[in-house]
Amino acid sequence: MTQPITKAIVPAAGLGTRLLPATKSQPKEMLPVGRKPVLQYVVEELQEAGLRQLLLITGRRKRVIEDHFDDDPELVSALKEAGNETLLADLAYIAGKSFFFYTRQSTPMGLGHAVSLGADFAGDDDCVVALGDSLIVADDPAAPLRAMMKAHRDLGAAAMVAVEKVPLEEAYRYGIVSVVGAEPPPGEPVAMTDIVEKPPVGRAPTTLAVAARYVFSPAIFEALDRTLPDKGGEIQLTDAIRLLIHKGEPVYAWLFYPDQRRYDVGNFESYFRTFIDFALADERYGYLVRKYIKAKAYEL
Ligand code: UTP
Repeated sequence: MTQPITKAIVPAAGLGTRLLPATKSQPKEMLPVGRKPVLQYVVEELQEAGLRQLLLITGRRKRVIEDHFDDDPELVSALKEAGNETLLADLAYIAGKSFFFYTRQSTPMGLGHAVSLGADFAGDDDCVVALGDSLIVADDPAAPLRAMMKAHRDLGAAAMVAVEKVPLEEAYRYGIVSVVGAEPPPGEPVAMTDIVEKPPVGRAPTTLAVAARYVFSPAIFEALDRTLPDKGGEIQLTDAIRLLIHKGEPVYAWLFYPDQRRYDVGNFESYFRTFIDFALADERYGYLVRKYIKAKAYEL
């Protein structure tokens, strides 16, 4: 029996310039969405998907990431003494089910470069890549990754890339993929024929956008080694995936189901949207936010 996939690489070293000044001294991956930082949702999703070894790619000004996932005996005993069961339960994520590894990308040279730093960690194993600034919302947020890992293994894939449909006028913001056939069915891997990073406005070949979750075989690291920096000097993960496709390696797109959605906090518009949706859906405080928004909408 083949071993399950247990390793995930989580790039979280980007500069987050589009979110300045919020990200001047704070990682964008640690911005709160509702009651948790973005990265905690990502880690919980990975743990639920059975990924036990997590390599976080961090960098300068990112040390709070390690602190967030580290034990804090003093805080825990203070809460115990105060009998604050609710807050103690909120900190239960620390006693998580994973081993955390960290490496630093001191100079952010692109997502592809960040992922390449995980080559030794992955070794000969298939591994997941999950972007630290993007959340999956679904009844079961780990369901897409679980299905992608299974499909990856069943098909002996070199890469399984989550995609979502985006409005045509927004396609220029994303990595856009082309696949065999017209419209891929959700949840069924479809062979990818091309991938382009941020196509110029009006030139996107499809509206299928890369959606922050990937499963790779070790072939990705060799492709990343051969990937040249783009015009901006960054090594793009999409360019390495394109090399795999051109080499004839089996690369697939996996489309989210309609009730599965990717949110990212990469710019203020998407961050605000993400925060509002999470605050509205919050099981503890959502009813207050809904009341507030209704009153506000009335004023507007
Ligand atoms: P982005 O390209 O959206 O992040 O990367 P960025 O570079 O921080 O954004 P701007 O353009 O400066 O605002 C998506 C994910 O990949 C990570 C980021 O931390 C984010 O989680 N990333 C990106 C790296 O780890 N290293 C990089 O060199 C680039």
